[in-house]
Amino acid sequence: MTPLKTERLLLRPWTDDDFEPFAAMSADPEVMEHFPSTLTRAESDAVAARLQAHIEKHGFGFWALELPGVAPFIGFTGMQYVTFDAPFVAQPPARTVEIGWRLARERWGKGYATEAARAALAHGFGPLGLPEIVAFTAATNTRSQSVMARLGMTRDPAEDFDHPNVEDGHRLKRHVLYRIRP
Ligand SMILES: CC(C)(COP(=O)(O)OP(=O)(O)OC[C@H]1O[C@@H](n2cnc3c(N)ncnc32)[C@H](O)[C@@H]1OP(=O)(O)O)[C@@H](O)C(=O)NCCC(=O)NCCS
Repeated sequence: MTPLKTERLLLRPWTDDDFEPFAAMSADPEVMEHFPSTLTRAESDAVAARLQAHIEKHGFGFWALELPGVAPFIGFTGMQYVTFDAPFVAQPPARTVEIGWRLARERWGKGYATEAARAALAHGFGPLGLPEIVAFTAATNTRSQSVMARLGMTRDPAEDFDHPNVEDGHRLKRHVLYRIRP
């Protein structure tokens, strides 16, 4: 696939060189605050490989983010199929696509996630012809929800849900859902 370009960023497939800086992010408690735990190197590598496999299989996914001429890897942004079951998830053969982002801590506060996500949405509603894209995150993750709101995504609190892959009673169980259409 051709990388997506924005004013400051490149959204591209993953390379082997991305795995090390991604592992550093995955081991950072601040980056992983709204996930169940930080990741070991092996766990982080497995996540990166899974994200790259989605791109290879479907032609889109959570792309690696590069700042050309500045930093070869600062995190990821993109879209992927939702694979767990929840009230908002379409039943096969229909599929639900989510948009998401994760940046290294030193890259927060510069608008990169929103800039990359705008390019991903344009790709989703343009070439991919998706009818709708959702985003979800732990109710506590206000920073990520701000990205969703900046993109023009909207939340109906009636659609808040308990994430099926998070154990009952866990502080991250409750999730919010945002939606956007072309
Ligand atoms: C969620 C996450 C990607 C948000 O990053 P972020 O930097 O806050 O979001 P953006 O890239 O949209 O940047 C917006 C901020 O950059 C500022 N900014 C600075 N320069 C800017 C520019 N040129 N253009 C736009 N915004 C700019 C904005 O004012 C805003 O600042 P504020 O947070 O003080 O209001 C980041 O916190 C993260 O990686 N968290 C950990 C992983 C995670 O939780 N992912 C989501 C799971 S669902």
